[in-house]
Amino acid sequence: MARRKIIAGNWKMNMTPSEAVALVETLKPLVQNEDVDVVFGVPAIDIVPVVEACKGTNIAVAAENMYFEESGAYTGEIAPKMLVDAGVKYVILGHSERRDYFKETDADINKKVLKAIEHGITPIMCCGESLEQREQGITMDFIRQQVKIGLQNVTADQAKNLVIAYEPIWAIGTGKTATSQQAEEVCKGIRQCIAEIYDDATAAEIRIQYGGSVNAGNAAELFAMEDIDGGLVGGASLKPDFGKIVCYNK
Ligand code: PGA
Repeated sequence: MARRKIIAGNWKMNMTPSEAVALVETLKPLVQNEDVDVVFGVPAIDIVPVVEACKGTNIAVAAENMYFEESGAYTGEIAPKMLVDAGVKYVILGHSERRDYFKETDADINKKVLKAIEHGITPIMCCGESLEQREQGITMDFIRQQVKIGLQNVTADQAKNLVIAYEPIWAIGTGKTATSQQAEEVCKGIRQCIAEIYDDATAAEIRIQYGGSVNAGNAAELFAMEDIDGGLVGGASLKPDFGKIVCYNK
């Protein structure tokens, strides 16, 4: 069974609510591709207007973060049921910027993954090594740990529907993309890790994205790799070029 590609934008901390709606209007006609699941990951304050602007289109909306508690005294955090009520379908969890600047641990990310699943939100769980780790030759050891802890207590049935984003930190926002071979090697390694935790059927279904300086020029080659099921796109998701990335096979 061929896995359906999933191409998600990660807007990060960009776009005011009114800018966000204008960007959706620009991108809407450009991201029509019936072969691909299209997702816009947007800042929390943009979620409501972006969901509204995406009504009746092929675009699903993702949050960029979420807390793992139901509700209560967690000033500044966003609860899963708030996202569900607002029409969010996916949530980006464990992005390297959140791990680095906001000290999120694999254990925190695991709690968030479990909570998102409980509420019917699909996690896009991020992993990826630093340049130092790559140079030390411990890329796969590090990523296996992130994936194994991130997926603790997630059942095979639940894992099948998840999305994992492999994003080498050295390739994020640097214009320095991993080669398609480098990206494929790690995505294949992640799939093997899933097969070890669960089974081959689960590994065959889970979707694994590549992220890190994906652009209109390199998307087709990356997405043609056997174990790369689409991309998580930062900078280029804010531009009309995102349409070319989504329509990489046209
Ligand atoms: P980039 O970001 O495409 O700007 O490198 C990717 C990401 O951080 O998800």
